[in-house]
Amino acid sequence: MLFPEYRPRRMRRNEALRRMIRETELSPSNFILPLFAVEGKDVRNPIPSMPGHYQQSVDHLVKRVKEAADQKIPAVILFGLPDKKDPLGTRAYAKDGIVQKAVRTVKERCPDMIVITDVCLCQYTDHGHCGMLDGQEIDNDGSLDLLARTALSHAKAGADMVAPSDMMDGRVAEIRGLLDDNHFSHIPIMAYSAKYCSSFYGPFREAADSAPQFGDRRTYQMDPANAEEAIREATMDVEEGADIIMVKPALPYLDIICRLREEVDLPIAAYNVSGEFSMIKAAAQKGWIDEERVMMETLTSIKRAGASMILTYFAIEAAKLLNR
Ligand code: PBG
Repeated sequence: MLFPEYRPRRMRRNEALRRMIRETELSPSNFILPLFAVEGKDVRNPIPSMPGHYQQSVDHLVKRVKEAADQKIPAVILFGLPDKKDPLGTRAYAKDGIVQKAVRTVKERCPDMIVITDVCLCQYTDHGHCGMLDGQEIDNDGSLDLLARTALSHAKAGADMVAPSDMMDGRVAEIRGLLDDNHFSHIPIMAYSAKYCSSFYGPFREAADSAPQFGDRRTYQMDPANAEEAIREATMDVEEGADIIMVKPALPYLDIICRLREEVDLPIAAYNVSGEFSMIKAAAQKGWIDEERVMMETLTSIKRAGASMILTYFAIEAAKLLNR
């Protein structure tokens, strides 16, 4: 159809018409809220580069989870800041580790909230890498057992889902196997499958105190220039037993979300990461953009690209707007 027979503007004349033909609708049930847990009581340290977010002890964390539940957000993902770090990241898989304690309390106080745990070693190792080391190299296969033990300890504490973010080869199969052997075959794995070596993680590394102490993560996280490789990574994770495939970051990788939506038949999650959040907050504080509108446009674009769920620091703010 060509102008003047067809006029696309006819269906944009008013909000009712626009709503009739809207292809993408956001809902609070699409959101997963990331939270940072620390040891202690009544601790609530603001994270300077992430306004509205805190490193918080479990008592405050529970209040935040309730706030999310009130806004009909179905899930949170927990990150832990341990009391001490060592070369093998032993506090990642300790029964009394910070994430394990946080999971137990949250599930006790808010049983209906889906509690997902991030499975990685970088917050727990003194060198800040996501796997254990052999000299200055990452020991991929040696790390698998530690990651699987971390996931199992989260499941034992009551986690509803585990999300490995380490990018070691073979971790999904290892985690699936250990969970299944220990009567946790019902616990899904959300795999960070296409996790890029991105500079958009900067604010998170400050928040989680997880920056590598030497080198960078390029030998395990993906090269931002690659798309075919994301398909291979995702396909491997599907075959190893993943239940949800994640793309991270989200905005600079909308093409990857879109490609994977066509290539795999599992639900896709996208992580709208710390740097994406902080950029919007900073520009809004300067009065350069309209924060609410940019937030909603961003989240809509991620869903339109093909993500069924979005891990986002905007979860509560966006849900409040949608519920209004
Ligand atoms: C841990 C992990 C990171 C993020 C989530 N899990 C940091 C990293 O890989 O360096 C980043 C999340 C964010 O930036 O919001 N491996």
